[in-house]
Amino acid sequence: MTELSRLHKARTAYKPKLPSVFDKGPAVKIVNGDASESVADQDKIKALFPKTYGMPGIGFEAAEKPEYKPLNLGVILSGGQAPGGHNVIAGLYDGLKACHPDSKLYGFLGGPSGLTDNEYRELTADLIADFRNTGGFDMIGSGRTKLEQEKQYQETLKNCKALGIEALVIIGGDDSNTNAAVLAEYFAQQDAGVSVIGVPKTIDGDLKNDMIEASFGFDTATKVYSELIGNIQRDANSAKKYWHVIKLMGRSASHIALECALRTQANYAIISEEVEAKKQTLQEIVEDLTDVVVKRSDNKENFGVMIVPEGLIEFIPEMKELISELNELMAQYEDEINEIYDADDKRDYIIDHLDENTSELYESLPKEIAEQLIMERDPHGNVQVSLIETEKLLVLMMKDRLSELEREGDYKGKFKTHTHFFGYEGRCSFPSNFDADYCYALGYTASLLAENKCTGYMSSVRNLKDDAKNWIPGGIPITMMMNMERRHGKDKPVIKKALVELDGKPFKAFLANRDKWALETSYTYPGPIQYFGPAEVSEIKTKTLELEHE
Ligand code: FBP
Repeated sequence: MTELSRLHKARTAYKPKLPSVFDKGPAVKIVNGDASESVADQDKIKALFPKTYGMPGIGFEAAEKPEYKPLNLGVILSGGQAPGGHNVIAGLYDGLKACHPDSKLYGFLGGPSGLTDNEYRELTADLIADFRNTGGFDMIGSGRTKLEQEKQYQETLKNCKALGIEALVIIGGDDSNTNAAVLAEYFAQQDAGVSVIGVPKTIDGDLKNDMIEASFGFDTATKVYSELIGNIQRDANSAKKYWHVIKLMGRSASHIALECALRTQANYAIISEEVEAKKQTLQEIVEDLTDVVVKRSDNKENFGVMIVPEGLIEFIPEMKELISELNELMAQYEDEINEIYDADDKRDYIIDHLDENTSELYESLPKEIAEQLIMERDPHGNVQVSLIETEKLLVLMMKDRLSELEREGDYKGKFKTHTHFFGYEGRCSFPSNFDADYCYALGYTASLLAENKCTGYMSSVRNLKDDAKNWIPGGIPITMMMNMERRHGKDKPVIKKALVELDGKPFKAFLANRDKWALETSYTYPGPIQYFGPAEVSEIKTKTLELEHE
């Protein structure tokens, strides 16, 4: 039996805070808002989701406790781990039991595949107890199987029916919540009697919009990374001999990189969305980076910290074109490519099949990077950017450029480097108090959406900048967040990713300071997450949330 750490024991006793509308538990009634529209491609989304398009947003009001009947509910965790997932389940369980003690919660194991393969366990009070306020998804596991075939929907329905499940909660990122919307629509068309509700999870922070202020896990993960970056900055500033180039997770958007830059005041942070807007080439990015190295070296500061967002490669227009051609190529010639076992032969095959320009660019990349670019896609057709070593690519290119400058007499410094990749380190940390509370509230809200037979909704909790008692729980139609995008060589309805907005307050705050942070050594050391103690240290919110909702 695993021995619980002291912090683990102390955290299981933590009581997450709930919005005050739930002061008397589920003594609430649903209030409908206005009809909704999708963010783009309205006609296409409406045609694909005839039953679940246009539904109103939902809120709650305190009321007499309704007569709830016993309800069986299924839950899955889907996609990458994010701190707080266990608390969503705890909130769901507590909400469900508060409505009716005979209700049951089933956890499907290993993500969406648990639904189709009928792998599940009943989640009881005892089982949940040790997982309250802890990180990880190990209570029921997670996975990235995409539910997209009718056969999978039928299997799911059969397995839910066998357990008497009337509602399914899918805790996941944009792709998984897209799955939830598709499943909700399918069940509605079949009149299946099973509703589907999503919960916004991802450390990446890109599942947000006017109604979803943040995805859970972003708060904790960015605090973990910021602590680590702060520690490295202090080391760099003590020894004054190394440049640290740190890649930070975030499959696509640069929210994590931006938040950590704001928290730590690192010397440089690349923001992918800006690179894309300026149509920068890889070489131009390297030029900007070396410029900072040269200027700091002129001040005798041959050290510093640079932040590189994981998703960068797909935002450099020339690389994006290359990746999109590679995606099409790999979808079209999947079998042939899979049969080439020699890495050089595979590279040659790709070079031969790409267009002239992209082929030249592909050939110019270091071999490891070229190989990493054609690694297996995830089940959603995405390049697995966490496996591409952009930080090393940039260091190699910076070294080349600095040697050139040295030869020309324009640089006399030293460039000793360490590369780091922080991603998995932050995904399973004990959730911060913010994430512990937020997740519990999202789960509790989802249980009430389920009790009220809402389907095709995402659980939402808003007004997050305020104290938890003033948070506003509700449900947002998932189709409202959708648009059409090209995936795996086909046009698909998907939830629109929220990228860093260049006219948004967080980016503007960064812009106002970045030249100063590049040249002066003005590091901030955030230190570790505080779970106990005064609110000024234990209830810190992200800079992103604070700035976006000033
Ligand atoms: P989700 O969007 O599923 O939450 O996953 C986010 C993420 O952590 C990305 O930041 C990262 O690129 C990816 O997962 C890594 O995936 P995997 O866990 O499959 O290696």
